[in-house]
Amino acid sequence: MTVFSEKLISELKNARVVSVLTGAGVSAESGVPTFRDKGGLWQKFKPEQLANFEAFMSDPDFVWSWYQHRREIMREVEPNQGHFALAEMENLFGEFNLITQNIDNLHNRAGSKRVTELHGNIERNYCIGCRTFYNEIDVAEKEVIKCVKCGGLVRPDVVWFGEYLPPEALEHAQECAERSDVFFSIGTSAEVYPAAMLPLIAKRSGAYAVEVNIKPSAISGELDEVLIGKSGGILFELVNKLKKERPEHG
Ligand code: OAD
Ligand code: ZN
Repeated sequence: MTVFSEKLISELKNARVVSVLTGAGVSAESGVPTFRDKGGLWQKFKPEQLANFEAFMSDPDFVWSWYQHRREIMREVEPNQGHFALAEMENLFGEFNLITQNIDNLHNRAGSKRVTELHGNIERNYCIGCRTFYNEIDVAEKEVIKCVKCGGLVRPDVVWFGEYLPPEALEHAQECAERSDVFFSIGTSAEVYPAAMLPLIAKRSGAYAVEVNIKPSAISGELDEVLIGKSGGILFELVNKLKKERPEHG
């Protein structure tokens, strides 16, 4: 059982704005591989061969088939109790912002209504020629799809190395971080910027900054509190505790 500090509980009780940044660790308990853990994707594959525009242009079928494979895994798994707890947290605070680096769509599937996606979403794809979207893709299509309007290649709507984050999502996330009373950084190694800046912005702007991770991250030392353990169990317990403390919202 996780012991939550009195400080954290009282900060949450008094918080008007609570924001959360999630990373791949939140989906690990669903069976989605992370990137930098032992056996993670970037230990098995070279990101420059898969997650960048030049790679896609030089071998679109190869990159497409890798995303199809990941899409298949992500569709087969289910959200875990961490995703469901975060969905419930929307109802526990005056304002709750969920910001994710994950492309796996699991926060939406768990019922979170307002998710800010910093790195895109694997369920969306768009034509690189005319930006027409192609979203209901059959995972059996192993070769890259061509746009019916202009013949352009269709790529997943995910942010690749060397690409900018969607500016509106990033701006919104930064603004949330600045306004937060409590900010959680959950299941992220905090090694990829600008996302990793968000907990630091929140902290600098006066938020009580908390990390949830199975091990310390690159930014643990900068935060107020680090909860070590799997995010699914910790978030489930936290939400139950908050519902008991604040029954009028639960
Ligand atoms: P990483 O793979 O870098 O980090 C995953 C983090 O989750 C690590 O800190 C683990 O310790 C932690 N973790 C693993 N299992 C956990 C569990 N059950 N509960 C809690 N924590 C757990 O993944 P991200 O930080 O999400 O970018 O990576 C950031 C970005 O790098 C990704 O969005 C992706 C990647 O390149 C793009 O695709 C643009
Ligand atoms: Zn097109």
